[in-house]
Amino acid sequence: MILRKRKKAWTMLAMAVCFSVTAMMPVTSQGAETTVNWTREQASRIELNQDNTLPYFEIDKLEKLAPGYHIWDTWPLMNRDGSTASIKGWKVLFALSAPNDVLPGKVHDIATIRYFYSKNGKNWTFGGDLFPKGTPLGSRQWAGSAMADGDDIYAFYTATGREGEERLTYEQRLALGTGKIVADQNGVRFEQWDKHRIILEPDGKWYETYEQAKQGEGGGYAFRDPMWFQDPQSGKEYLLFEGMSGGVVTERACKPEHAGSPEFAAPPEAVHQNGNIGIAEVTGDVDRVTMLPPLLEANCVNEELERPHIVVKDKKYYLFTDTHINKYAPGLSGPEGLYGFVSDTLIGGYKPLNGSGLVLANPPENPYQAYSWLVTPELNVVGFAHFGDLGGMAIGDVGNQSPEFQFAHWGGTLAPTVKLSIDGDRTKIEKELPQGWIK
Ligand code: FRU
Repeated sequence: MILRKRKKAWTMLAMAVCFSVTAMMPVTSQGAETTVNWTREQASRIELNQDNTLPYFEIDKLEKLAPGYHIWDTWPLMNRDGSTASIKGWKVLFALSAPNDVLPGKVHDIATIRYFYSKNGKNWTFGGDLFPKGTPLGSRQWAGSAMADGDDIYAFYTATGREGEERLTYEQRLALGTGKIVADQNGVRFEQWDKHRIILEPDGKWYETYEQAKQGEGGGYAFRDPMWFQDPQSGKEYLLFEGMSGGVVTERACKPEHAGSPEFAAPPEAVHQNGNIGIAEVTGDVDRVTMLPPLLEANCVNEELERPHIVVKDKKYYLFTDTHINKYAPGLSGPEGLYGFVSDTLIGGYKPLNGSGLVLANPPENPYQAYSWLVTPELNVVGFAHFGDLGGMAIGDVGNQSPEFQFAHWGGTLAPTVKLSIDGDRTKIEKELPQGWIK
């Protein structure tokens, strides 16, 4: 009896010590052992060179993909295995879009997914809205991916804000709509959509919730951009997405593993940069997904790793993501660019491509000319034309200029595609292809 009581007392004491130690410990990376850090040491190697710098293009000479609409983030319809789908000979491209009389800075507030189809994967016909009005979730829809299986389409997207909200909010959840694909010699349509579902929300531990982000001091928020991926080695299926490491900013601290080595130690303000690349496994039907620890964290390095996606080549996993100039932590800098990491396994082991992670960047004289690049299985990189010829103006100042200025310098259409070559952990821009070329 006495023995038992003592044991209980010891257990309680041990639990109390454990609890207070945990409470005192700064919560830094919540990722698991398999989560890789993109370190400050690696990111400090970022530099532009002839292999990663995109050719300059004149933004006002580009053809508009959709008369009447601005478009920005795009993604092709893919098969379950990630290859580009061909439905009765048609390829399909989805894009975030908004009417073209809306100022560029406002397009994200009313983003709607529209689509295009093409026989040759180069010239696109406008198909209209992907979803019937009033059916998608969120007050607007942000980027996603789309997978075809027979005549079924699984359309993943970001439900941003809530349907019908009076003031825009920035909550983000991963959503799915499934419908039927109808294709004939005239083109492609989508019908019989089911009721859309939210399939993944942040857990607060690995992935920051909107509530946690609101307890910080400003900054962005991300839980978005679901991208379908089937692992060719295991056959298992996943969604990749853009997230932020969980917890509130006051509980975070920059640690040696975020630096890489002592001379790259982060200043304390770098705790605001907590971007990560999330992954969830499909466990059953496509709408049943189980959250896993992040593949990669950029804590104390960068706060926005957008539209992550994987291309498998020579049995290696190439994980790509996009980020902006202004998303780096203090003491680091990098261009608007496509970045990448390579590993022999899907989970764990990622090393930055080209030493730093930088794969391609806008030319320094036109630093905002394109963005939101996506690498197709053929290594064609498709992005959109963003802002051109700003003559040294910071992107944040564009919104203060006249509407004429803003429209004149904004692309709102596809950028010229570029062909990438990959050799192990090295990449190179091979050549520029015409606008709209996905395959
Ligand atoms: C990239 C991006 C995506 C997001 C969308 C919103 O350009 O920021 O991450 O889903 O734009 O418009």
